[in-house]
Amino acid sequence: MATQNDRTKFLLGEHDIPKAWYNILADLPGPLPPVLHPVTLKPVGPEDLAPLFPMGLIMQEVSPERYIEIPEPVREMYKLYRPSPLIRARRLEQLLDTPARIYYKYEGVSPAGSHKLNTAIAQAFFNKQEGVKKLATETGAGQWGSALSMAGAFLGIEVEVFMVKVSYQQKPYRRMLMEAYGGTVHPSPSPLTAAGRSILEHDPDSPGSLGIAISEAVEDAATHDDTNYSLGSVLNHVMLHQTVIGLECKAAFRKLGLAPDVLIGCAGGGSNFAGLAFPFVPDKLDGQKMRIIAVEPEACPSLTRGWYDYDHGDVAGMTPKLKMYTLGHTFIPPAIHAGGLRYHGMAPLVSKLVNLGVIEAMALPQTACFEGAMLFAQTEGVICAPESSHAVRAAINIARECKQTGEAKTILFNLSGHGHLDMSAYQAYMGGQLTDVVCELPTRP
Ligand SMILES: Cc1ncc(COP(=O)(O)O)c(C=O)c1O
Repeated sequence: MATQNDRTKFLLGEHDIPKAWYNILADLPGPLPPVLHPVTLKPVGPEDLAPLFPMGLIMQEVSPERYIEIPEPVREMYKLYRPSPLIRARRLEQLLDTPARIYYKYEGVSPAGSHKLNTAIAQAFFNKQEGVKKLATETGAGQWGSALSMAGAFLGIEVEVFMVKVSYQQKPYRRMLMEAYGGTVHPSPSPLTAAGRSILEHDPDSPGSLGIAISEAVEDAATHDDTNYSLGSVLNHVMLHQTVIGLECKAAFRKLGLAPDVLIGCAGGGSNFAGLAFPFVPDKLDGQKMRIIAVEPEACPSLTRGWYDYDHGDVAGMTPKLKMYTLGHTFIPPAIHAGGLRYHGMAPLVSKLVNLGVIEAMALPQTACFEGAMLFAQTEGVICAPESSHAVRAAINIARECKQTGEAKTILFNLSGHGHLDMSAYQAYMGGQLTDVVCELPTRP
């Protein structure tokens, strides 16, 4: 007789879409260090953030409540693609000849292509509620800009995107997708802002970085009354919105009668990783044995090679200071293909849990990740985003270790987005032009 464990694909019903987001602030061992004002260096209050964010999101940023209700109109929009499928990678397991069970949560089914829509819809909703007309944002690879442009179209909000220049050049179809959703896209650094002009003055060929693009978007929002700023990662409220991923996984695993032994997510600013992992953290704190692994690129290793201290979220130093693992806000990461992982810092919540030893971190080089992505495409059929390939490769490495040790571990990773618009990166890998960028990393000032 077939059992739940024989199944390949686990689909929950629309009524299983979580009714509340999970707020890990309620369960964090010890307080999260406060956010500091960039000039006074005093803890910021809600009024300091009000020029950039709606009060609904600011309150979520600091809320001590364990669960925060998801507004019904947001759940309605989630129904377009949630619950996302949980899939067992059986052919990959067979190829690796591993006793491990490998599951992945596939966030690439969202119309915009990645997990980013989970927070884009929520952020656009709370901005709309407070009458905001326009949102300015940054995007690395273009996944976040696409998601926010789509959410803006749904909620009637204009979206202006500063897209990291190297990605703007590498991924023209991402730009077109944002424009098809009605967004306006500028390559960053751009001559439109003082922050962009100052970078261009020193380095007209700057490839850009998420830190620069954030400076431009924040400046745009701060200098226009009708415009708010929207961030696709790093902040507490973004981590919060992404917990629908892990909450759905927990519900599916309960039905399967299983618990994951290893959780894996790629980490740029930390949001897809947090979304998968945070709902499982209380179980680990309660004593359940579980490895929780954030995977970053070797070319931008904030968690494994950075330092845990206060730093700005952007290059120009306009944003408040956050206590996080950072490579320094002036670090411009080399132009690797996983553009969404080219960020100098890491979410304060993820950083705190790494610092406490609840979460571990690993860094992988991009060629190994693309090798894993190719194996995954040829066994599971999914072309994953270059960012997600870091999680794929880490899962493969652990499944191979299981082969050596004979352990039948249950591995769960987040496949944060599809790579259909990243084929130039795959082409570079297949053509042997992709190398592992060796760069000098900054040292702690
Ligand atoms: C598909 C995908 N995965 C992961 C990331 C990294 O962001 P985060 O660490 O916030 O999930 C990005 C960022 O653009 C992305 O596009």
